[in-house]
Amino acid sequence: RTVYVNGEYLPEHEAKVSIFDRAFLMADGVYEVTSVLDGKLIDFGGHMARLDRSLSELDIRKPGCFDDLLEIHRELVRVNGIDEGLVYLQITRGSPGDRDFVFPDPETTEPTVVLFTQNKPGLAQSPAVKTGLKIVSIPDVRWGRRDIKTVQLLYPSMGKMMAKAAGADDAWMVMDGFVTEGTSNNAYFIKGNKIVTRALSHDILHGITRAAVLRFAAEAQMEVEERDFTVAEAQDADEAFITSASAFVMPVVEIDGVALGGGVPGPRAARLREIYLDESR
Ligand code: PDD
Repeated sequence: RTVYVNGEYLPEHEAKVSIFDRAFLMADGVYEVTSVLDGKLIDFGGHMARLDRSLSELDIRKPGCFDDLLEIHRELVRVNGIDEGLVYLQITRGSPGDRDFVFPDPETTEPTVVLFTQNKPGLAQSPAVKTGLKIVSIPDVRWGRRDIKTVQLLYPSMGKMMAKAAGADDAWMVMDGFVTEGTSNNAYFIKGNKIVTRALSHDILHGITRAAVLRFAAEAQMEVEERDFTVAEAQDADEAFITSASAFVMPVVEIDGVALGGGVPGPRAARLREIYLDESR
């Protein structure tokens, strides 16, 4: 695999980042994941707009290559022959050459930029679309700025492990009695013709797929209600689903052991997935 590191395209085993990199020592970095279908980047503009915002919220300077990111994404997709898969992009505050809690001087420390591709043939036809996901709820103990897409992913990673240990596929996180989001996705339920999902705030990541799916709701003759909801309310729904750049729209068939819609994926989430894939390809 060819990867991109700080201005260079290199074979992955030759790519190097300093041990003093702020992301390695302090999770001081942000990332984006953009999916690729038929060799084309999906929702690229949205991902770059959120990246821009994540950087500015953390006062990380834009790297010199910022305006070339589309070109770099396309080049990696091309050289690695990605038809279906993902492009991972990470920008960190850089490698000041020592460990220090104080941010390095942005005049002398260049941000670190890393991009690599993940080949995932069949990404759009994942078998989980047919079976649906089983979800367990776990407490949301993450920091208070989940709207910034930082590489601080230890708890979401632990959450997936807790889900697996419980025989489920993924976890939804709960704060003050209300669902925030999934470990790496946004969370929704459907009741009648209404899609309910938590409103945007510092409590959740502002999903790029979320924005697109809510925009397409009208095309599926559905209404959108952005508000807090409990696990019990979602368990009582007709359908539930998640969204993310890598899962698109994925049905949920069970929450904390309670089956939804007879435990099989429902038609409305399927319709939303179909519209999302049609419109964004
Ligand atoms: N995760 N919420 C969280 C906590 C996420 O990590 C993600 C994305 C989302 C969905 O955002 P989007 O639709 O823009 O992908 C919501 C990515 C895919 C990941 O970490 O791999």
